[in-house]
Amino acid sequence: MIVNEHSTIRCMTEKDIESVVEIHLSSFPSFFLTFLGPGFLKIFYKGICSASDGIAFISLDSKGTPAGFVVGTSNPRGFYTKLLKSSWYKFALASVIPIIKKPSIFFRVARGLKHPGDNPIGTDIAGLFSIGILPEVQRQGVGQKLIKAFLDGAKEKGCNKVFLTTDRDENANVNAFYQKVGFDIQRQYITPEGRRMNEYIITI
Ligand SMILES: CC(C)(COP(=O)(O)OP(=O)(O)OC[C@H]1O[C@@H](n2cnc3c(N)ncnc32)[C@H](O)[C@@H]1OP(=O)(O)O)[C@@H](O)C(=O)NCCC(=O)NCCS
Repeated sequence: MIVNEHSTIRCMTEKDIESVVEIHLSSFPSFFLTFLGPGFLKIFYKGICSASDGIAFISLDSKGTPAGFVVGTSNPRGFYTKLLKSSWYKFALASVIPIIKKPSIFFRVARGLKHPGDNPIGTDIAGLFSIGILPEVQRQGVGQKLIKAFLDGAKEKGCNKVFLTTDRDENANVNAFYQKVGFDIQRQYITPEGRRMNEYIITI
C-alpha cells in the first residue's frame, strides 16, 4: 500500500467494484465499454479483480473515497479467453439491451468477446487495460501514482514490460499522459472499425 498526505493506493477488491464502475462511467463518458452499461462493466472489472493474473489498484482520497483505478493482467493473451470461458453467458446477457438500443454494435461486441488476440506475444509482458480518474481530481498526480503501482504489480508477477493501446486521434491528453509517465509508441494500427490506435510499451 502506498500512502501520502493526499491519497492512498491499494489493491482493488471485489468490494470496490461499484465505485470503480462509477469512476469508469464519469471518466470515460463516450467510450464503447461505457455504452455497454454498468452491468457489463461490473462483470468486466470483477473478472479482472478476482483473476489470479489480474493486476488492479484503486486510489483513495484523504477521506477514503475512491478517486481512480487502474486494471490489467500479467497474461494479456490468455486473459480474455479465460474470462469468457467462465463468464460468456453473463457478458452475452449484459450486452442484450445495448445491442437492442444500437444494433450496429453487435459485430464489435462479438469481436470483443472473441478477442482477436493481437496483443504482443510473450510471457513477460503485462497488459494495462484501463485507467480512470474522477474528472474533479484529474491532473493532481493520481494517474501517475496508479501507473507506478501497476508497474510494480506487473514486476511482482514476473513481467518486465507493460503494453497498452489508446486512440491516436482526438486523444492528445491521454497520449501526453502515457508519454509523460514513460511509455513509448511501439506500433500504430487501425482497428476493423477504422480507429487509428497507438500501442505503447514500457520496460520496467
Ligand atoms: C489520462 C488520466 C488517467 C491521467 O490521470 P491524471 O491523474 O489526470 O494525470 P496526472 O496528474 O498523474 O498527470 C501526470 C502527467 O501527465 C501529463 N498529463 C496528464 N493529463 C494531461 C492533460 N490533460 N493534458 C496534457 N498532459 C497531461 C502531464 O505531463 C502530467 O504532469 P503535470 O501535471 O506535472 O504536467 C486521466 O486524465 C483520466 O482518467 N482521463 C479519462 C479516462 C481516460 O481517458 N483514460 C485513458 C484511457 S486509455
